[in-house]
Amino acid sequence: MKRVVLMTGATSDLAKEVISKLVVEGYKVYATSKVKFTPEDKSVSVFSLDVRSWENCKDVIEKIIKREKRIDCLINIAGYTISGPSLSFNEDDFKNLLDINLLGPFRLIKSIYPFMKQQGGGRIINITSLNGLVSLPNFGLYSSSKHALEALGNALYYELYKEKIFVTNLAPGAIEKKGGGLTFSHKPAREKFFLLKFLMPMLSPEKVADSIVNLLQNPNPPPTLVLGSDAKILLALKRFLPGFIWWYLMRYVWEKK
Ligand SMILES: NC(=O)c1ccc[n+]([C@@H]2O[C@H](COP(=O)([O-])OP(=O)(O)OC[C@H]3O[C@@H](n4cnc5c(N)ncnc54)[C@H](OP(=O)(O)O)[C@@H]3O)[C@@H](O)[C@H]2O)c1
Repeated sequence: MKRVVLMTGATSDLAKEVISKLVVEGYKVYATSKVKFTPEDKSVSVFSLDVRSWENCKDVIEKIIKREKRIDCLINIAGYTISGPSLSFNEDDFKNLLDINLLGPFRLIKSIYPFMKQQGGGRIINITSLNGLVSLPNFGLYSSSKHALEALGNALYYELYKEKIFVTNLAPGAIEKKGGGLTFSHKPAREKFFLLKFLMPMLSPEKVADSIVNLLQNPNPPPTLVLGSDAKILLALKRFLPGFIWWYLMRYVWEKK
């Protein structure tokens, strides 16, 4: 029997890689996005889903259950980044970001939970971010949304473990974009310090997709998995450096022109 996967954010480079790997591994994939999307592989089923709508989340899940009688895995990829001084944004910018990055996964997890419980288990993967573990200047709003998603996912890991519903937050560092990188209002640290480009290369979407597939096949997946040398190096520095050196380092990187 094919394992059934529901995924959001299907138009992103990352999701496209995840879809092709899951198809090769023999999963039945339901890929969803807000805008119309045509998958390369004809075996992939597509639904339009705006994660800001409870109705839409419930409706898509019920349709899949009707067809397949089960959903084994939920992969929450939909989400977006806003960068810039935190106080340059207004309340609506913040509410919209939280609605998609935080409440979107919450709506899907809450709607899918009764079915996973009834079928005796399931897998949930939330794509969080390095910004969900370290708060970086210029990413205050985005970091808030991803810290909150990290917190939610970690609590759910414990709450649902006994029901064999395994919840993992996958926290990648920066991921390469095929059509060019994100545009930022500031000069990224990698451009200020060229050495960082070599020490902390960006992750390829393929690498992140491999980790997602491995997590789905791991009999005992962890609550959080960190990916990428930028994420690993920054987290190690934050953990092991005395606070005042870490704060100085962060201010130095931030203030350097
Ligand atoms: N890029 C990075 O360096 C990086 C690093 C760490 C973590 N992440 C996380 O990885 C995920 C994908 O990032 P990305 O940079 O690849 O993103 P992206 O290319 O900008 O794609 C964002 C995805 O979110 C979907 N989305 C946005 N609003 C939605 C809504 N209201 N309802 C349903 N779907 C919606 C978009 O779908 P439509 O096209 O249909 O609007 C799109 O598929 C995000 O959660 C992001 O936070 C990214």
